[in-house]
Amino acid sequence: MLRVGVIGCGGMGRDHIRRLTEKIQGAEVVAVSDVFEESARKAAEICGAKVYADSKELINAENVDAVFIVSPGFAHVDSLLQAIEAGKRIFCEKPLCTTAEDCLKVVKAEEAAGKHLIQLGFMRRYDKGYQQIKEALATGEYGEPLILHCTHRNPEVGTNYNTPMAVHDTAIHEIDVLHWLVDDEYESAQVVMPRVTKYSHSELKDPQIMMLRTKKGVCIDVEVFVNCKFGYDINCEVVCEDGALKMAQPAYPSIRKNAAVSTAIDTDCFVRFKDAYDKEVQDWVDNAEAGVITGPNAWDGYLAAITADALVKAQETGQIEKIVSAVEKPDFYK
Ligand code: NAI
Repeated sequence: MLRVGVIGCGGMGRDHIRRLTEKIQGAEVVAVSDVFEESARKAAEICGAKVYADSKELINAENVDAVFIVSPGFAHVDSLLQAIEAGKRIFCEKPLCTTAEDCLKVVKAEEAAGKHLIQLGFMRRYDKGYQQIKEALATGEYGEPLILHCTHRNPEVGTNYNTPMAVHDTAIHEIDVLHWLVDDEYESAQVVMPRVTKYSHSELKDPQIMMLRTKKGVCIDVEVFVNCKFGYDINCEVVCEDGALKMAQPAYPSIRKNAAVSTAIDTDCFVRFKDAYDKEVQDWVDNAEAGVITGPNAWDGYLAAITADALVKAQETGQIEKIVSAVEKPDFYK
């Protein structure tokens, strides 16, 4: 049994605690911590875990085999470095860290520790729809991928959501999953700003068209539209040399009523990617004994950070921005 300590008991933290307690095989939550002790206490009621006022104490507790980091992004770096030092297995919600510099610190610390410890919570790699496309591409039957057309639409966002958040909080999932899907790395980024919807405000340009070019020349466009009103609508079509592959949508019945045919669209990521969240955590637990990470790792977290930085810069400049890594990919991550 993998004994897990959870740091950060907000919405996502409690969601993961319930998942680890009620669904995942081979793990139990034995410790929880939050800067607001009340939040930790509430979370402890779900799983009967011990509450730690200090997350470092939780990390170093003898009966904690693995650490689940679900605090806000800015707080990840300290917990990651402490958990690496303690040699604990780690699941870290995205983003790895909020700056590329901190991501690199974590990458270097993990490499120096000489053990693959960190899995990052980019759950889309575990979604059946993306996996089916990846498997189809691997057959070679459709030739090489050339173009990807994608959408990431949310019904609406809060009034504190601003233009850069369309990259950091929304497109970040496409940033990770799409280069994995076509087995390539990004080279440059550009953002085109269409007319702004009446549902937005002065601090948010919505919608946006984000474009990424990979090293092999694949061109990707992602429509990010966070006040689309009609649903949480994730699409991905891969145009290849010998065919075009469109990701399947969740299966809902087609309903005939009032002289119209309709099919449901999900309204949030927790429903749309419900199975993917379960699978990513089960995979992390299953691989604990072998000490391997098969999901997104710390290097993927660094790549996402530099790609996000280039997209945010491109939002401001309107130009094509290069995506350049400060270091070569270490052999450790190859
Ligand atoms: P939240 O704001 O609801 O919860 C964060 C919790 O962490 C709060 O209870 C807060 O008191 C606590 N906290 C703050 N600083 C802390 C620290 N230094 N140490 C320990 N606890 C601390 O945020 P939410 O939505 O739960 O997000 C948490 C993480 O999960 C973020 O990294 C976010 O990006 C990620 N997330 C990932 C999603 C996905 O689709 N993979 C979806 C939603 C969130």
